[in-house]
Amino acid sequence: MSAFLVEGGRRLDGSVRVHGAKNSVLPILAAAFLADGESVIHNCPRLSDVAASLEILRHLGCGVRWEGDTVSVDASAPAGVDVPDALMREMRSSVIFLGAILGRMGRAQLCAPGGCELGPRPIDLHLAAIRTLGGTVEEEGGRLSCSGALTGGDVVLSIPSVGATENAMLAAVAAAGTTTITNAAREPEIVDLQEFLRTLGAKVRGAGSSVITVEGGKPLHGGEFTVMGDRIVAATYLAAAACAGGQVKVTGVDWRHLSTVTAVLTEAGCAVRSGRDCLAIRCEEPLRGVRPVRTAPYPGFPTDAQAILMAAMSRSEGTTLFVENIFESRYRHVDELTRMGADIRVEGRVAVVCGVPRLHGAAVRADDLRGGAALTLAALGAEGRSTITGLQHIDRGYQNLEGDLRKLGAEIRREEL
Ligand code: EPZ
Repeated sequence: MSAFLVEGGRRLDGSVRVHGAKNSVLPILAAAFLADGESVIHNCPRLSDVAASLEILRHLGCGVRWEGDTVSVDASAPAGVDVPDALMREMRSSVIFLGAILGRMGRAQLCAPGGCELGPRPIDLHLAAIRTLGGTVEEEGGRLSCSGALTGGDVVLSIPSVGATENAMLAAVAAAGTTTITNAAREPEIVDLQEFLRTLGAKVRGAGSSVITVEGGKPLHGGEFTVMGDRIVAATYLAAAACAGGQVKVTGVDWRHLSTVTAVLTEAGCAVRSGRDCLAIRCEEPLRGVRPVRTAPYPGFPTDAQAILMAAMSRSEGTTLFVENIFESRYRHVDELTRMGADIRVEGRVAVVCGVPRLHGAAVRADDLRGGAALTLAALGAEGRSTITGLQHIDRGYQNLEGDLRKLGAEIRREEL
């Protein structure tokens, strides 16, 4: 079993470039299946979730090449309609392939994604969108079978689900006629998906707003695209400076994508400056408690940054209240932070963080991707040694977390225990 070994107490100083956005490249890889040709995708991060998506594309008969941070997907001779159960279980977000497979092949099969470390992961909105576009969905024994020639329709999402918006977009591109998606998610990754679809020749507009319109039904050709920088990885490195003290510059990301996170860090006493595709943070004083942090759909405070900000606020002067409004159970990192001396009480969706002057090193375990990143950050600011296990969760979303942090001056390495 591998683990991070961290000697806390080192201030950070330096610059780091964030890799391509996981939550943009995953739907883009699914979208590549819609093209009758080869797509070339640059700034593709080397993550286990990306590897799983490429496995699914190979299983669907695509030619796949992955050189450095460029992936080529040739979907000119598709030969499959199902997502293998093992890959579905490994990565619940594989459900994003549903719309693309059904749109391209006229049928699709996959096992229903189970619950996960964030709580139940229902896909009712995904399936309702498929039905609105003329697809039939049969559920039997935990497996979903979808079929039908898709036609344009008016999809209305009861909540601005990121995945359901993406699945509806991919199905709509293949559906003959006009589709509108109302109450669409507005995340920057949705805009990236729209721009990629446009390079394939699709007619999509409105991404980033609550109403997306697609003129679908025309065949798509391959395209070439560069994925946006990962805003949550950028937020992670800014929060690392807040945890350990020091100054960090993060490049390769649009500062506007994480302005709710930088606003909270500024309120906590950090100095944050932003440039065209970079952000710089300086944290010299102990952090102050901030006004309640409520997670919300974009452009609200991102749920994916909740754990990493909590790590920073654990060692602060004052109290900060967190309200997790997106996922049912996204506080699994709290018990582990408590082992490091944090004073946090959870009541349902609310966590009250009473800042303490210092944390101490401990042996802690990551139970999910962003919770694992949070524990790693907390260890940077703790006194003494920490070991963090469960790195398979962290490797899903960070290309080289320990390498980047070491570059910034942290004493962290990956060891086999
Ligand atoms: C995406 O997940 C991201 N994953 C998540 O990032 C992110 O936390 C989430 O959006 C919210 O921003 C990817 O993009 C691969 P949702 P997704 O559908 O699409 C409920 C990370 O750390 N819901 O917007 O699964 C759902 O249960 C990951 O990188 C339904 O009820 O999120 C949740 O409570 C974690 N029915 C809420 O909506 C549905 O059909 C938001 O989920 C779909 C969702």
